[in-house]
Amino acid sequence: MKHSARTQRSLFLAAAVRFTALALVTAFVLTAAGCSKKSAAANTNGTLSASSATDSNTEEQTYTRNIIIGFSQIGAESAWRTCNTLSMKTAAAEAGIQLLFSNAEQKQENQIKAIRSFIVYQVDVIVFVPIVQDGWDNVLQEAKEAHIPVIVIDRKIRTSDESLYTAYIGADHVEEGRKAARFLQEKYKDTNKTLNIMEIRGTDGSSVSEGRYQGFREILKDDDRFNIIYSETGDFLRSMGKELAERILSVDGTLSVNGTPVDIIYSHNDSMTLGFLDVFEEYGIEGGKDVTIVSVDAEQAIIDALAEGKVNCVVECNPKTGPLVMEFVHRLTNNRPIPKITRIEETVFTENDDISKIEPRGY
Ligand code: AHR
Repeated sequence: MKHSARTQRSLFLAAAVRFTALALVTAFVLTAAGCSKKSAAANTNGTLSASSATDSNTEEQTYTRNIIIGFSQIGAESAWRTCNTLSMKTAAAEAGIQLLFSNAEQKQENQIKAIRSFIVYQVDVIVFVPIVQDGWDNVLQEAKEAHIPVIVIDRKIRTSDESLYTAYIGADHVEEGRKAARFLQEKYKDTNKTLNIMEIRGTDGSSVSEGRYQGFREILKDDDRFNIIYSETGDFLRSMGKELAERILSVDGTLSVNGTPVDIIYSHNDSMTLGFLDVFEEYGIEGGKDVTIVSVDAEQAIIDALAEGKVNCVVECNPKTGPLVMEFVHRLTNNRPIPKITRIEETVFTENDDISKIEPRGY
């Protein structure tokens, strides 16, 4: 833990380094109260069932201590991501914790640089979303040597040394893939015909994309009716979804890949699905009817599309992890244990549900 390192140094020096660091950091944004109003509403809509008992009453004075988190976010590629960032910023503000925020603009090297800066600045805890799974060992070893705990959120890292991070908080992305596949099995339980699937993957190399890819196949691999004819990355971007949709559109306006018609689209996130729907609208293709669509995230825009019958199934991925992260930071800075792995529980919304009962999503 960082505290043991700090006891070796002068507290005055640590405070001075922090002060100077804070003064110098122009690339990072200190949490502003301005975003808290908006995301307070978002938080009340959140359903983080993984939370554990809080005891903030007994330790309130620790919140007033100057706790600093260095947070490396991967970017702003989707509404999901924007909500995740807002959740972190708001929860930090509400907990009285300072958040040094760094946007990596989809580049791992920017994340590594940010983490190194956080180490130099002697933050209390480093929190980051790893854009891809591999390539973190060196920088995390540096954080470990500096006695700074690291919380990995949303996406996972792949390492042979589990001591390089203190905790992981995130969804079970393999299970999300399974849920998507189970919906299809249920929907088509009474048919024997072959169903051709087009899969739009998220960012290659990310644990989330890999999980959704694996879980989906795990369920469908023994069901001969389902045939994955095409799988391509759309990098979690709406623009890439659009581009891919245009690529598979035949001149006659039907969907096919190398002449094989597409029955089902399985998209790893809503942004890419919305890109598909943009193109379908232009060409008069009816998503949800001409082609079955299964998407992941459950942004408000896609729940609206589900209500309109343009999408058939949406697997939820919950971005509102900020409050739980702050609780864990609180515990860590009080030398109390936190679980190594915390999973966020999530649901599935389908065409068979009463959509009017779905609470506003907040993202
Ligand atoms: O890592 C979570 C994924 O990243 C979300 O599904 C996606 O929308 C985001 O950009």
